[in-house]
Amino acid sequence: MVVFRGERIFRAPAHAMTHSARSVASPRVVSISDLRAIAKRRVPGSVFDYLDGGAEGEVTLRENCRVFEDVTFRPRHAVGFVECPLRTRVLGFDLAVPFLLAPVGYSRLMHPAGEVAAARAAGNAGTAYILSTISGHRLEDVKAASKGPVFYQLYLMGGRGAAEAVIDRARIAGFSALVVTIDTPVSGIRERDFRNGMKELVSGSALDKIPYLPQILAHPGWLMGYLRDGGTPPLPNVVVPGKGPMPLVDITAALAASTVTWSDLKWIREHWRGPIVVKGVLTADDARRSVDEGAAAISVSNHGGRQLDCVEASLRALPEVVKAVHGQTEILMDGGIRRGSDIIKALCLGARAVLCGRAYAYGLAAAGEAGVNRAIEILRTDLDRSLRLVGCPSVDQLDRSYVNVPANWDAD
Ligand code: GLV
Repeated sequence: MVVFRGERIFRAPAHAMTHSARSVASPRVVSISDLRAIAKRRVPGSVFDYLDGGAEGEVTLRENCRVFEDVTFRPRHAVGFVECPLRTRVLGFDLAVPFLLAPVGYSRLMHPAGEVAAARAAGNAGTAYILSTISGHRLEDVKAASKGPVFYQLYLMGGRGAAEAVIDRARIAGFSALVVTIDTPVSGIRERDFRNGMKELVSGSALDKIPYLPQILAHPGWLMGYLRDGGTPPLPNVVVPGKGPMPLVDITAALAASTVTWSDLKWIREHWRGPIVVKGVLTADDARRSVDEGAAAISVSNHGGRQLDCVEASLRALPEVVKAVHGQTEILMDGGIRRGSDIIKALCLGARAVLCGRAYAYGLAAAGEAGVNRAIEILRTDLDRSLRLVGCPSVDQLDRSYVNVPANWDAD
């Protein structure tokens, strides 16, 4: 650890990086689900379940992944390409791959390097990173870690004063876009978090924490890193004017204070003045409203199945939104991406790129930056292989002709 501008910054020693990279190398890790299994062993159940779980019966969480099976490929065979470019453009930025790293709350609990590691890995891979409001590292440090574009995901925690302050900081630090999440009038009930005592562990008294400590003590490797990192820091990017950084709160309290309305979008846009991505669109109506409100991009999203359960899977909602928008704004999607072939299907259905959240966060929890690098490498090699197998010369030439889509998907 070194001290930089008064902040603790995690720097893994070179030999530890090598060890971490080896721990997630092939054949131990050949898919994202292998990273998930390692993450599950390495971090306490409460941290793993926060990352892995969804709302209520987790119907949408499961459906987000399963629905990719409903779309099958129509490959063109007997074609061969020397190169299959994976490049795309999002908000005017050239990205080396058609996926961005999505905002993931509490990343610093998954690994002390948290958001700094994820941003660095994204930048090294030539793609963008989206920093969550519920982050443990200062946004300036996160931006400085990445060679690529970094976007800031805004929750209105701490009120308008805190939001305006963070928007100003993000502009000065060089953030390229604001991502406004619109599906959090309250938090969905993530039952695993309640059972695991996430609230007590994150913001309770020492006495409140006692019943939940055995799962933490059972993960001494994670605990050592957490203690060395100084325990649970306040939220360095939610600075309430006159009060300082907001203490860490559990997700239910955080999202209850994060309601965004269309009228908020107006002052947010005036204050920010840069591109805005509206995240959490599932219907044609909200897509059109986002366009009217000046969104530069929208993300078709159900918050990874973590908010309202039993809404449609993101991929299933994509055609309706694509049809409604008529190319008037860029369309991204997130939810359920675990393989490069999932990304290809989303692109065939009209997304320009996707956001991956759990896919890289499993890597972060499993092995820090090396784990994020490995997740990105898996998705990139998957993409290249699948594109060649599908017989398409580049991701920007993917379209509906490469997939079979169930007939009722277009009836909307
Ligand atoms: C944060 O946005 C979460 O869904 O946990």
